[in-house]
Amino acid sequence: MTKRNVTTTPAVLIRPARPSEASEISLLFFEWQKFGEERGRIKEIRKSIKAGQVLVSVNRKSNEIIGFIQGIIQNDPISCGPLLYLSSLYVKPQFRRRGIGSKMLETSIRKAKCKGVVAVEVATAQKPALLLYRKLGFTQFTGDFDEVLLGLDLRVQVKKEN
Ligand SMILES: CC(C)(COP(=O)(O)OP(=O)(O)OC[C@H]1O[C@@H](n2cnc3c(N)ncnc32)[C@H](O)[C@@H]1OP(=O)(O)O)[C@@H](O)C(=O)NCCC(=O)NCCS
Repeated sequence: MTKRNVTTTPAVLIRPARPSEASEISLLFFEWQKFGEERGRIKEIRKSIKAGQVLVSVNRKSNEIIGFIQGIIQNDPISCGPLLYLSSLYVKPQFRRRGIGSKMLETSIRKAKCKGVVAVEVATAQKPALLLYRKLGFTQFTGDFDEVLLGLDLRVQVKKEN
């Protein structure tokens, strides 16, 4: 595992993505998953942005997007309320271990809470992501296909905070 990055953290703004930024976000997808610019990808990203699902981290100095998170709110009978499902979280490698991933996650959860969301779920196979989610209070359980799932019950969290 890499060590915490001690070089200066750039001033970062976390805000909703703009439809005009779909191509830039698609490039980050490529950097992460090696997904090509296949037909339809940018269109899907744009739709997600318009649905208010995507937040970006912008380097205030260069105006470059250095990370993004997508969270989808769905009605969830199991949680007995709306659930935020995190479908992606990415930070450019040179900006990692400076708290940017955590800040995007916290912002996404805070905004979802304002919309009445009661729980958060995410699935990952990546150790750094696993460590980040655990650090922020997520607990781990095993899915039907042995995948690692992580959940955060916001109602329990609220009780702890009080
Ligand atoms: C996972 C990811 C988003 C983390 O972003 P980040 O900005 O580096 O995360 P943070 O700096 O907020 O890290 C928060 C904590 O998570 C843990 N952590 C994150 N990356 C780690 C690593 N490489 N090694 C060990 N711990 C790590 C640490 O506890 C860290 O706190 P610390 O730096 O004070 O020790 C980033 O590594 C990434 O984009 N990875 C590729 C995409 C991916 O796997 N996404 C998850 C899909 S669900």
